[in-house]
Amino acid sequence: MTYNEIDQPFLNELTAIVGEKNIYVNKEALEKYSHDETEDLQFLPEVAVTPENTLQISKIMRLCNHALIPVTPRAAGTGLSGGALPVKGGIVLSVEKFNKILSIDEDNFQVTVEPGVITEVLQNAVKEKGLFYPPDPASKGSCFIGGNIAENSGGPKAVKYGVTKDYVLNLEVVLPNGEIIWTGANTLKNATGYNLTQLMVGSEGTLGIVTKIILRLLPYPKFNLLMLVPFKKMEEAAKAVSEIFKAGVIPSGMEFMEKDALIFGKKYIEDVKTPVNEEDEAHLLIEVDGNNLDVLYQEMEQINAVLEKFTVGEILFADSEAQKNELWRLRRGLGEAVKRQSVYKEEDTVVPRAYLPQLLKEVKKLGQQYGFRSVCYGHAGDGNLHVNILKDDMPDAKWQNELPKAIAELFKICKQLGGTISGEHGIGLVQKPYLPIVFSNTEMLLQKQIKELFDPNIILNPGKVFI
Ligand code: LAC
Ligand code: ZN
Repeated sequence: MTYNEIDQPFLNELTAIVGEKNIYVNKEALEKYSHDETEDLQFLPEVAVTPENTLQISKIMRLCNHALIPVTPRAAGTGLSGGALPVKGGIVLSVEKFNKILSIDEDNFQVTVEPGVITEVLQNAVKEKGLFYPPDPASKGSCFIGGNIAENSGGPKAVKYGVTKDYVLNLEVVLPNGEIIWTGANTLKNATGYNLTQLMVGSEGTLGIVTKIILRLLPYPKFNLLMLVPFKKMEEAAKAVSEIFKAGVIPSGMEFMEKDALIFGKKYIEDVKTPVNEEDEAHLLIEVDGNNLDVLYQEMEQINAVLEKFTVGEILFADSEAQKNELWRLRRGLGEAVKRQSVYKEEDTVVPRAYLPQLLKEVKKLGQQYGFRSVCYGHAGDGNLHVNILKDDMPDAKWQNELPKAIAELFKICKQLGGTISGEHGIGLVQKPYLPIVFSNTEMLLQKQIKELFDPNIILNPGKVFI
């Protein structure tokens, strides 16, 4: 695909649409739109715009579609697969000014929100009304709900409550040609036509730009209990995960943390006093929630009964809000902590939950074979393991040439186990080369054709996912 250069007449038209105050062309201003949280990647856009309403986005898209200028939509830029990077230059379109919660419908348990609202801000606003929006990616304090929809974000609570897709009822979307559509209805059920809402969720900003979102909500659960369980052997920690579910408990959090992840966490995250015994290869952070405290204690008992079958150290029950917050702060900070330790490559592997022990074993085997250290943590209850491959002092040439082979092998193992190559971070730019491992030619073609149907000129987030 060849795109056109941005020239002065085009800039004039763009400025006429968004106004002087919403267009950026100088390098310093563009810097913040040039990276997300994916490793150290950087691509400078030629222009960034911060439109203020749907009509402006529609006009921008019409203009760019006509002029053949690439547009990369951007939410908060906390993504981990490079989805918001303007790899073909052109325009970054930031939804940062779409930052309003438009209405909270307490009768229907719904919220109407714009894509630039911070996920935690949304959660707190509905919590004030006794309502619950569960999806809670590690970056919930800074990511936008629009980005969560683009990537179909998950997080620890997904194990009981599901991921972003499970809460999206209806979306207002600007198509690449500038037309504005609604994808569904504001209903809990909808058997009317193809499911455009779910097609949009997880499409990583390649099919349209979401401008308004209707989410469903739940009543806020009144109580939760949290415990941190140290395991001598990491395989046992992985095995305990499915045993706990088999005992009939569905925890609201079931997180796996390998020893090195906790060590980095303690090293780089401020004010973490949680003791970590370096003899324990892994920990599980287990939360249960609900409205009846007695039931929750009972569930913890059931979990304890399962844990007795394994070699576990002293279990830490969080007995205050402060301690719970610290444990979650530690868990949520692991990604950042790994980043500060070494150059790294992060994989977002996911397999059916009971195959987690196999996945972990294979990861370590590949590490031995290729000579890399890996640090794993993640949403064990979902079989979603974040595998962080550390460069440490590996020579650059080996890192560049050997690593992709190791990753391809890892992904083949995921596929063999009935899993796939991303659970919640998306394909974006960095996982794109590996897609043929999980999709047949026909499956690839079908999805490319969907992209072309929405965006025949390939101007919206080009270079990502399929095209
Ligand atoms: C986490 C992010 C990396 O689980 O998904 O911390
Ligand atoms: Zn995660």
